[in-house]
Formats: sequence, C-alpha cells, structure tokens
Amino acid sequence: MEVQISPSILSADFANLQSEVERVSNADWVHVDVMDNHFVPNLTLGLPVVEAIVARSPIPVDAHLMIEEPDRWAPAYAEAGCASVTFHAEAAGAPIRLARQLRAAGARAGLALKPASPVEPYADMLGEIDMLLVMTVEPGFSGQSFLEVCLPKIRRARELIGSSGKGVWLQGDGGVSTDTIERCAQAGADVFVAGSAVYSAQDAAEQVDLLRSLARGAVG
Ligand code: DX5
Ligand code: ZN
Repeated sequence: MEVQISPSILSADFANLQSEVERVSNADWVHVDVMDNHFVPNLTLGLPVVEAIVARSPIPVDAHLMIEEPDRWAPAYAEAGCASVTFHAEAAGAPIRLARQLRAAGARAGLALKPASPVEPYADMLGEIDMLLVMTVEPGFSGQSFLEVCLPKIRRARELIGSSGKGVWLQGDGGVSTDTIERCAQAGADVFVAGSAVYSAQDAAEQVDLLRSLARGAVG
C-alpha cells in the first residue's frame, strides 16, 4: 500500500491555475473538484477548464465530480484525459455501467461516498472500481474540519477491500492536514486529498512531502 498525495486546487488561486499546479509537481496527482451547484451548493469549474489543466499539468489529473447526472457527464472527463475520474454513488443512476465506461475510456474509475453514505452496499462492486473516495467533510467547500466520525467507515472500507482481494485505492478527502493525516492513514486510507493544508502553506511542495512522510510513518 503506497501512500499518495493529491492536492486539491479548490484552495488554489483560480486565476493562475497553471502555476498553482506547478507548485505541487512533486505530488502524485492534482485533485480537481468539479461542482455543479446542484449536487453541492457551490460552483467551481467544468470540462473546458479541466481540459486546459490536463494539457498543462506536469502530474496526472484526479477529477472529483460533485455533480448530478454523472452517468451523463463523467465519461467526457475520462475522454478529456483525466487519469482518474471519481463520481458520487449518491448521484449515479447506474454506477457499474458508468465505472465500466470510465475504464473503457482509459481512466481509473473512482466511486465517492458522502460522510453519511454507507460503504457496505458497494462491497460487491469493488472489482468494478479502481478507487473508493470516502469524504471526511460534507462535500462543497475546502477548509472544513475533518470529521472524525468518518474514520470507522474508512476502517470498514479497508477491510472490505482486503477481503475482496482487489487492489482498490482508498482516498480520504476533506480536512486532511498534518493534524489528521496520520489517523486517516491508520484507519486504512492510502491516497490523501489536501486542499487548504497544501495551498495555505508558504511552500506547497514541502507540505506535500511532509504529509506524505507523516502518512508513511503512521502505517510503518
Ligand atoms: C470538498 C472537496 C475537497 C476539498 C478539500 O468538497 O471535495 O477536495 O477541496 O479541501 P480541504 O483539504 O481544505 O478540506
Ligand atoms: Zn475533492
């Protein structure tokens, strides 16, 4: 289980996205939060901006779609070159079909769960996805406090992944910082999204390295 860091540009300067992505070029991924003002009460960016980021980013794009009707909109993000495309279980009409479409388009398929959504109903479809994203804040905004109440679900998700025998990555997203990443890693997450923790740091790249070493240290 290799630790990976995926800084979220939700906390970056949206007027300077290229240089903001370059600030974290030592990270494994750049996490791009797509919000439609329907699934969540916030509006960020959509396909044209994501295409521009894909074209300029030195690292692969990890798209997190917080949108209604992902069945309709998500495949285009895979076709645009996002290496990973994550849609929400709560919004998907046919998650298995959609995950297959994302993989067929060459992306890793991710399934996301809001804090109050249980993981157990998705146990049998772990073979259809490459990553499970467990939200550790209510989706919509960066800078919120990590919800400790989500840690048991991360533990159960890790157990389900273990017994499935599938190499599914487990992403923690929301409130991940130097204060919380170790608990998140000990619970079983291996991919960490950090927005405000990385972009509020003087040296964003150094913060990425620090987060990575804390997570590695926490799991030995
Ligand atoms: C929240 C987004 C997160 C967010 C993380 O809805 O999905 O990716 O940007 O930001 P922080 O790390 O500040 O909670
Ligand atoms: Zn996100």
